[in-house]
Formats: sequence, structure tokens, C-alpha cells
Amino acid sequence: MNVPLLDLKAQYATIKPAVDAAIAEVMESQHFILGPKVEQCEKAIAQYSGCSHAVGVSSGSDALLACLMAEGIGPGDEVITTPYTFFATVGAIARVGATPIFVDIDPATYNLDASQIRDQVTGKTRAIIPVHLYGQMADMDAVMRVSEERDLVVIEDAAQAIGAERNGRRAGSIGHYGCFSFFPSKNLGAAGDGGMVVTSDAARAERLKTLRAHGSKPKYHHKIIGGNFRLDAVQAAVVSAKLPHLDDWTAARQRNAKRYDSLFAASKVRIGLPTVAPGRHIFNQYVIRVPQRDQLQAVLQRRGVGTEVYYPVTMHQQECFAYLGHATGAFPESERAAKETLAIPVHPELTDEQARYVVDCIREFYQTAQTAAFATSTPARM
Ligand SMILES: Cc1ncc(COP(=O)(O)O)c(C=O)c1O
Repeated sequence: MNVPLLDLKAQYATIKPAVDAAIAEVMESQHFILGPKVEQCEKAIAQYSGCSHAVGVSSGSDALLACLMAEGIGPGDEVITTPYTFFATVGAIARVGATPIFVDIDPATYNLDASQIRDQVTGKTRAIIPVHLYGQMADMDAVMRVSEERDLVVIEDAAQAIGAERNGRRAGSIGHYGCFSFFPSKNLGAAGDGGMVVTSDAARAERLKTLRAHGSKPKYHHKIIGGNFRLDAVQAAVVSAKLPHLDDWTAARQRNAKRYDSLFAASKVRIGLPTVAPGRHIFNQYVIRVPQRDQLQAVLQRRGVGTEVYYPVTMHQQECFAYLGHATGAFPESERAAKETLAIPVHPELTDEQARYVVDCIREFYQTAQTAAFATSTPARM
């Protein structure tokens, strides 16, 4: 059986007329950059996330970069974040010339351990970037407490968490900014790169709009230096066409996650399953924690099951961040997660039969003679 990690072709088949019509409309208009399609998409995403403003940008990476630029964060400043994230989070901090300061993750949720933030705040700290990893929000109450105490800007990296909630509030709406990615593998993906910043601060939204067009306002007059961070109309049209389906897709992902939970429980295989904190987890990924992760991944690949390791190398262990001077062991929970986690297919189109097959493959792997010892001993902490 073939079980892809993501099945965008199957998804497209269900929405093809609407997506094709949206793209055709842009082609007919020949209005490709910003314009009415982008404005329409911004309105819809602002409303979906519970914010009053949204600014379409070229990617989730540029969303983060533009927010840091909007705050004038640069050399000599420090920004607190997690070392267990996609590169873009930390890359954006380094690209503006600021210093990334890491706090380790909570091993249950993989999100930054907010109780460690306060100890890392110095006179140079300007911002915190919590990442809502795998579709589940970080402890924003704790993050905002530190932000208010120390007057720090909060930029939510919600690239993997559109529609996630905590205490009834949506990802992106709690900090000063929320950054989304429309990379095709995200729960709400475009037909290429795209992103958006949401905020409920009109002045911040206005500054972002200026920054995304080289800081030009009015045209050809530049008080500030920006970049080309514009969202194009085709991507905005695709995102707008897909948005009405997002809640159904999220419900299907949640259903698949529950199905895995019970299948794994019944299989008696001792592996770490996702911990769901109170709130709305949108399951951009369903990540298991397993011994012999790399061997399991190779076996699953041979048996037709697509998986991915998010992320095999933590940010403090990346070659390009060696200058930060963190030794291996500096952030042990992040390092352990990087060795033990594996994302398995949870996309909305996953069938019951496919889910059963995935769990059977994993159970069989741990039942083989070579691995029996691992299957019966619980990993140190799950
Ligand atoms: C946590 C996180 N931050 C930022 C990004 C960057 O988004 P993009 O790929 O749209 O630049 C991603 C996308 O993979 C992500 O997962």
C-alpha cells in the first residue's frame, strides 16, 4: 500500500473547479501583484484569525523578517525563541543582525518551555518568537506575561498553526504579530510560496505594508528600507478558494489523530504519542516519538509509508549558528526530540485503511526479533 505523507493531488481533486476558476480570474485580470485578490484574502484571513488587520507577504519566512524589521530590531538586540523549529524562525533573527537566544522546549508539546523565558531576558532583549509547532499553540499566557513585564514584542510564528486555539483565542491573535505560511504543505497551502502577517495594531499593519514594497510611500519615496515581500494575486486567489474548506480539513486531521491514538493504544506498541494540551490542535503534523527512529523510517519507506523528520538538527547545532557558541547538550530536550521524533501521514484525505496499515507497519517493526528489546522498554521519557 502507498500512504503518502501528504496527498495534495487528492485534495485538489475535491476543489478543482473553485481553484481553477480563481486562477483563471487572475489570468483574465492580468493583475498579478497585490491588488483586489490580495486584499480580499487579507480580509478573510484577518477575520479567520480574530485580528483586525492582515498583510499578505511573499512567504512565512518573509513574514517573520518583515515583523522584525518593522520593530527596528537589529544588531545589538536579542530575540528569544526555540532551537527546535524550522530554520526560518531563527534565520529571520540572524538576518536582521540580532542575536537569537534559545530556551529549551517542553518535551510533551515540543513548544518552547515558557517558564524558562524570564531567565533569558536581558537589557538587550527586544522580542520573543514563540513557535506553535506541529499545529499546537505555545503557552501564550506565560509568554504574554513576560512580554508585558519587560515590554517585549511578541511575534507568533504560526506558520504551522492557522486556526489553532488556546483559551478560545486563535493562533496569531495574541502577540503583537502573527505570521502564517501558505507553503503548499501547510494546512492552508497556496500553489507556490506565500505568507501573511496578522495584527490588531493599525500602525503596525501600515508599516508592514510599506516594508513589503521596499519601504516605498508614496511610490518612489523611501523613508525606510524594506524589501520585496509582496504576495501575488494567484497565491491569494488560491488561498481564498481553499479557506472555506479549512475547518473541514482540520476536523479530518483531528479525526485521523484520534484514530491513530486508539489504534496505537490497541496495538500495545510503546511509543510516544502527541500530547494535546487544552485548546484546538490543528495537526499540521502527527508526530510520534520512537526508539530507533531512523531504522523505522527506512522500513516505513520500503513499505510505502511517507514520513518526515521535523527536525533532525536543532538550530543551536546548525553549522551557520556555531558562532552563538552553544555546545551539544545545551538544550537537551530539543536535542532528544531531534533524535526521536517522526511525523506520520495525518492529512485530511487519509483513509481508515491507510491509517491501520501505518500502525500495522510500526507494530510489526517493533515486533521483529532485532527490535523486540526496544519495543518492550519505554523510552526514557515520552
Ligand atoms: C515554523 C515555521 N516557521 C516559518 C516557516 C517559513 O514559512 P515559508 O516556508 O512560507 O517561508 C515555516 C515553513 O515551513 C515553518 O514551519
